[in-house]
Amino acid sequence: MTELCGTILVTGGMGFIGSNFVRHVLTTHPAARVVNLDKLTYAGNPRNLADLEADPRYVFVRADVCDEKAVTEILEVHGAEAIVHFAAESHVDRSILQADDFIRTNVQGTRALLEAARRTGVRRFLHISTDEVYGSLGRSGVFTEDSPLLPNSPYAASKAGADVMARAYHVTYGLPVIITRTCNNYGPYQFPEKFIPLMIVNALREEPLPIYGDGLYVREWLHVEDHCRALARILSAGQPGEVYNIGSGEERANLDVARQILALTGRSETLLRHVKDRPGHDRRYALDWTKIRHDLDWTPTIPFRDGLGQTVEWYRAHPAWWLEILSGEYRAYYQRQYGEGTK
Ligand code: NAD
Ligand code: TYD
Repeated sequence: MTELCGTILVTGGMGFIGSNFVRHVLTTHPAARVVNLDKLTYAGNPRNLADLEADPRYVFVRADVCDEKAVTEILEVHGAEAIVHFAAESHVDRSILQADDFIRTNVQGTRALLEAARRTGVRRFLHISTDEVYGSLGRSGVFTEDSPLLPNSPYAASKAGADVMARAYHVTYGLPVIITRTCNNYGPYQFPEKFIPLMIVNALREEPLPIYGDGLYVREWLHVEDHCRALARILSAGQPGEVYNIGSGEERANLDVARQILALTGRSETLLRHVKDRPGHDRRYALDWTKIRHDLDWTPTIPFRDGLGQTVEWYRAHPAWWLEILSGEYRAYYQRQYGEGTK
């Protein structure tokens, strides 16, 4: 492992992957400091990092990535040398209901952050993107870093917009940008609007599990801890101007994942409910991640079966964390998204 050092500005560090990354850096890289910049939208939860609040190597600043002036000041005041940019509106179904915030945060916010980075001369800008920018696959094939960008959902389109802006800042201004594209992550602290935590929380509460369409849509699953290790590796040894796919090879149909969760929680398959499909639903994603394996010597270490079991145990052991979320804005969202369809 190459040690990280200096001050890293993490955006979106109160969200799922961001909070896992902040914890990963502070616990495994003793020479690194973290400034966590987050707007605290519905998806940002200070409880995710409550145990690290007193760490002298950690600072939280509430700010919006779209506020270029504030972001520039934060970079200057804290002397950040690197940025890891997670902040985004991240849920496909919400982007289908209303896309404005996706364009604002994901496209305009990324541009504002790139500009602030350019003005303050940061030495690395890691832009966190997704396999969804490549579009959808049939039964076979994989996306390489050179596959065309053919996003299908408003979320994916906004992420593709951010990616090409990040690339343009590298080409035009020489900003040392690296783009990463990962597959579906899972693990602790994931907001229960996403598939795996939604299935786990509903199973634990003995509520129906909503399966879109035939449930044979395929996703590639990567444990968030493996993802964080990959990002730390890329931050220390990746090449500016490059794109790195971060995959796992663990492809699963949604219905199989839901059945596995029911078995792990000891619930009956009668809880499965086929509901109305997502419009424009991408059939399958799969990444070719040869480049990060060969060039940076990274491979995932947590098999899906083990990681899913650990994740179910985490949600079982932390009901207060998700019950608080379920009592808030989430209820209105759930009603709007699923209506009576899962009763
Ligand atoms: P998340 O929704 O859990 O967290 C997003 C965080 O960003 C929240 O803390 C939120 O408060 C913050 N945020 C939102 N708008 C902001 C703004 N304008 N200014 C500052 N902060 C803001 O997301 P996640 O699942 O952790 O995803 C993190 C990143 O990884 C995103 O860029 C996402 O596109 C990408 N990604 C996620 C997955 C996945 O499986 N979760 C897969 C591929 C790529
Ligand atoms: P999601 O977690 O939203 O990730 P993404 O769409 O970005 O890959 O969904 C993962 C898969 O699960 C996707 O094929 C849609 C499906 N899904 C359901 O079947 N039911 C649900 O309630 C949700 C949220 C997702």
